[in-house]
Amino acid sequence: MTVPVPSADETAETAETAGTAGAAGTAGAAETAGGEALRPHAEDAFADELKALAAADDRPRPARWRLSPWAVATYLLGGTLPDGTVITPKYVGPRRIVEVAVTTLATDRALLLLGVPGTAKTWVSEHLAAAISGDSTLLVQGTAGTPEEAIRYGWNYARLLAHGPSREALVPSPVMRAMAGGMTARVEELTRIPADVQDTLITVLSEKTLPIPELGEEVQAVRGFNLIATANDRDRGVNELSSALRRRFNTVVLPLPATAEEEVDIVARRVAQLGRSLDLPAVPEGVAEIRRVVTVFRELRGGTTEDGRTKLKSPSGTLSTAEAISVVTGGLALAAHFGDGVLRAGDVAAGILGAVVRDPAADRVIWQEYLETVVRERDGWKDFYRACREVGA
Ligand SMILES: Nc1ncnc2c1ncn2[C@@H]1O[C@H](COP(=O)(O)OP(=O)(O)OP(=O)(O)O)[C@@H](O)[C@H]1O
Ligand SMILES: [Mg+2]
Repeated sequence: MTVPVPSADETAETAETAGTAGAAGTAGAAETAGGEALRPHAEDAFADELKALAAADDRPRPARWRLSPWAVATYLLGGTLPDGTVITPKYVGPRRIVEVAVTTLATDRALLLLGVPGTAKTWVSEHLAAAISGDSTLLVQGTAGTPEEAIRYGWNYARLLAHGPSREALVPSPVMRAMAGGMTARVEELTRIPADVQDTLITVLSEKTLPIPELGEEVQAVRGFNLIATANDRDRGVNELSSALRRRFNTVVLPLPATAEEEVDIVARRVAQLGRSLDLPAVPEGVAEIRRVVTVFRELRGGTTEDGRTKLKSPSGTLSTAEAISVVTGGLALAAHFGDGVLRAGDVAAGILGAVVRDPAADRVIWQEYLETVVRERDGWKDFYRACREVGA
């Protein structure tokens, strides 16, 4: 027997009144902010591109997919449609990685995106769900405190007390709603979830069903259901993925950007997008500064200067692309509000220092050494050297 699952609207109501774990990841409960959302969901932000792709897409689509695998990959990697519509790249990286990720979701295996912090795991997962199901909000955020209810279902206690266990008293998790609707569910930071809670997913992924023993019923996954999980390399060992669960996933490792140009491109694109939503000045004038931030990050991360001549010590922070994006966005805000609107060395220096010096003792020494031996000697970097000395004094 199967049990119908309440729609997103009904869930919003139940989750709110109950305040149970079911609400943990039900973004369906969020009020629609329309054009005023500080950060619109991917399916809203790129609604036009998704629509154009769907119209141009004449390839076969797996059950309940909004687009064919080819169109999903084009949505992520960017391209130009026959009618001239330009699809902006969301992910900058090897095409094959995206193709494997998309293809996995069309099979009966779930997708695990693995990588060091800031390699766009969450970003890619959101865009995949948006392109495939038109909804990226069926999300469970994994933490050390994620309860089983967040993955299975919870109860609206008022209704439970009034009417006993019943379908009306059940608060479905995002995973359960995805199963019932044949949609894409997302689990963030899977390896932060305690092992016994993680194992709840085994039945979901292998039997494609979620039993509800209290009602003697089950929710069977409808065709089109699949799941994308993300996990951080740095969390390895916190809660190792059980081998039983690992076998249910195809793992795709997202790499750090291969070249400095690629990383500059990623940062410039994201900063331009973020800047628009924050009403910051356009980036073109800031590209030189972005290049500098990326160079500093790559050199310190990699432990050697770009020309390979000088060995460097790496600081404790991750210095990810995501952090470079924050540094540049912060710099642009400084330039807009306290400068002349053009991004300069002085605007990014404080941000860089904050990202590099996480451990006030060891990292500061590493930074000072980098500053004196590399930055100071480099042609055209005098302004940057001075700015860093000023904030770091
Ligand atoms: N290769 C890339 N292509 C496009 N954007 C990227 C790339 N790498 C990083 N980014 C950008 O970096 C930002 C952070 O990415 P995201 O939060 O998805 O990282 P993450 O891998 O989930 O990190 P964490 O492990 O900390 O959760 C996003 O805004 C994303 O656009
Ligand atoms: Mg993430």
